[in-house]
Amino acid sequence: MSDFAEIILDGKSYKMPIVVGTEDEKAIDINNLRSESGYITLDSGYKNTGATESAITFLDGEEGILRYRGYPIEQLAEQSSFIEVAYLLIYGKLPTEEELEVFTNEIKIHTLVNEDMRKILDGFPSTAHPMGILSALISSLTAFYPESLNPNQSKDEVNLTIIRLMAKLPTIAAWSYKNSIGHPVNYPKNKLDYCSNFLHMMFAYPTEDYQIDPVVVKALNKLLILHADHEQNCSTSTVRLVGSANASLYSSVSAGISALWGPLHGGANQAVIEMLEQIKADGGDSKKFIAKAKDKDDPFRLMGFGHRVYKNFDPRATIIKKAADEVLTALGVNDPILDIAKELEEAALTDQYFVDRKLYPNVDFYSGIIYRALGIPTDMFTVMFALGRLPGWIAQWKEMREQKEPIGRPRQVYVGEKERNYIPMNQR
Ligand code: SDX
Repeated sequence: MSDFAEIILDGKSYKMPIVVGTEDEKAIDINNLRSESGYITLDSGYKNTGATESAITFLDGEEGILRYRGYPIEQLAEQSSFIEVAYLLIYGKLPTEEELEVFTNEIKIHTLVNEDMRKILDGFPSTAHPMGILSALISSLTAFYPESLNPNQSKDEVNLTIIRLMAKLPTIAAWSYKNSIGHPVNYPKNKLDYCSNFLHMMFAYPTEDYQIDPVVVKALNKLLILHADHEQNCSTSTVRLVGSANASLYSSVSAGISALWGPLHGGANQAVIEMLEQIKADGGDSKKFIAKAKDKDDPFRLMGFGHRVYKNFDPRATIIKKAADEVLTALGVNDPILDIAKELEEAALTDQYFVDRKLYPNVDFYSGIIYRALGIPTDMFTVMFALGRLPGWIAQWKEMREQKEPIGRPRQVYVGEKERNYIPMNQR
């Protein structure tokens, strides 16, 4: 294999070094392309462009492989816990028992949020989408912890900022839900584990004791693990780009939450359930909606299908589909839209349009069915995605900072008007 790529431009030869990753991924390093040749590359949607070299997550879209710090997602989903996977992603190794205990306890003592945050929360109408509330309240953490704005925080100060975010996002997420149903918020109970505490804050009522179901806790751990990181996806790239300007972790993650909200990205899990409900209300004819999805004149898309990277099955979707059957059976839930989802998947996977375009169910296709069975309302589904993705965003922001990456500033090709003179109003 050659050590460089040769580019011939205007009769002149330019040699660009080849970069090879741990899993033999290859890239052409064009860091000097513009300074040497005056040319830039153009790649709408960055489909062929690497933004960084990262040691956090490896995925192979053709083989359906996903590993966090080298550990296969299948093993982590079955054997680990979300808080342990968060430690793995953020600090780069599986914790010892003592390290996990310290991490867990540090998070527990920071789960409360400043009571003034409730004044911000009260300012939102009950119709506010929880993702909008989450993004706003996470950004407001900069007001309560202004030291987080210092780009030269010490390692320990950065770690405290990280711990506070891991601790407070679940509280804020649960409070955004309570705000949307006009119910009083629940305060964290630090005797509970991370997932149980979130469920308590989401579903406990002052009028009765909330019984935490171990089946629900296990399912939630698995779902959050499966969402924890996914290399340079849209929201993670947003976190890294905002962070590259020396913006705080809170500001960077707040921006990532807004990117995740998009229905083409994390918002798809809500859109999938709404689509399945639409199909059910329309009589359940999957083939009719497959035809709509294929019709270029019809804006309808099969939400939860397709992926920029996975051109084979999304390994997370495979695990979540199996878990959906297990959880609904364990909870005694019979949800007809699970059957519609399976019919839709079966119809799509045998349809040439989807086969030709390598469109398979992605992480969002079945996740909403489990969230629904756990009692989580549809407009909280993307908040659940953010809860899961948080340690990944943190790990990627931390790596970008530690690698001292330059501020992200893409170039462009200008296609507008050439120079022209101003025209006074009376001459237009
Ligand atoms: C996530 O990047 C990540 O890692 C994201 C994520 C993560 O963990 O962070 O995995 C999470 O965002 C999962 C994706 C959730 N989004 C959806 O389910 C929305 C529905 N899917 C899409 O809109 C689409 O598939 C994307 C956005 C996911 C990927 O879009 P691409 O890679 O830009 O592909 P494309 O839109 O150019 O589609 C290629 C072709 C087009 O047809 P042609 O122009 O070739 O004729 O496939 C078609 C598209 O029209 N197509 C679909 C389709 N997805 C793509 N047609 C019908 N239904 C779909 N869902």
